[in-house]
Amino acid sequence: MSHARLLQERAFHDSQADARAKALLPADYLVDDDAYLDHESWIAPAIAALGNVDGLRVLDLGCGHGMASVVLARRGARVTACDLSLGYVREAGMRARANGVTFDRVVCDGEALPFCDGAFDRVWANAVLHHLDIDRAGRELNRILAPGGIAVFCEPWAGNRVLNWARSTLPYPGKHRTVDETPLQPRDLTVLRRHFAEVSVSGHQLVAMLGRVVRMATLKRMLTRCDDWILDVAPSWQHYCRYVVVVARKK
Ligand SMILES: C[S@@+](CC[C@H](N)C(=O)[O-])C[C@H]1O[C@@H](n2cnc3c(N)ncnc32)[C@H](O)[C@@H]1O
Repeated sequence: MSHARLLQERAFHDSQADARAKALLPADYLVDDDAYLDHESWIAPAIAALGNVDGLRVLDLGCGHGMASVVLARRGARVTACDLSLGYVREAGMRARANGVTFDRVVCDGEALPFCDGAFDRVWANAVLHHLDIDRAGRELNRILAPGGIAVFCEPWAGNRVLNWARSTLPYPGKHRTVDETPLQPRDLTVLRRHFAEVSVSGHQLVAMLGRVVRMATLKRMLTRCDDWILDVAPSWQHYCRYVVVVARKK
């Protein structure tokens, strides 16, 4: 990442973390595992793709608020939470303490990781890769995985033109973007396939993407069930989904 881009990303996320730190109440630091797994429909299948993490060394790349780190630590993983933003690493630390779990915390750039080769069995990254230079990050993440290691990335996907138009034009809740982030594209998967031995991709939220604007939990669940049916009958429609879960195996 160019130095200017790195500083811009860090400033954006530090200021976001700073605003959160001022607004969060002690109870907001508590993590309910089921609520976390349910907050977006790709989270539960993506966490399941990590397999049994008990005793494994797991890197939560771009940990942000640290909720996934807490959930993974509770499952017995030896978690390292890292992020470019010191503010977010602080929040992850406070969340660990509030939930009675421990994990290492590191401020670093995902494109130049301060870990030795083979340091982790699993990498978890939710909504992070699309902030990074995919080529540099892919090389680093394959390097720090141990033999047999798996990385799971959940990323916004650029396959749906109508959605891309909505993303760039419409105002909707929770729309906070850095200037450099771009949803993952097919060419990014080609780059990942150069670095990892095997890369599999699944699409999530076709009609369920409406859950972004309709906030009723029951309606969201119905839309997700519709997606399960549609994507089962017509798997190629995954290309038009809002998010992808990418499972990459160490080369
Ligand atoms: C959209 S947030 C996702 C946070 C969290 N993973 C989640 O599930 O909510 C993106 C995160 O990636 C971090 N990030 C951005 N660029 C990064 C980089 N080059 N290296 C490490 N983390 C980075 C940001 O600071 C931010 O916390």
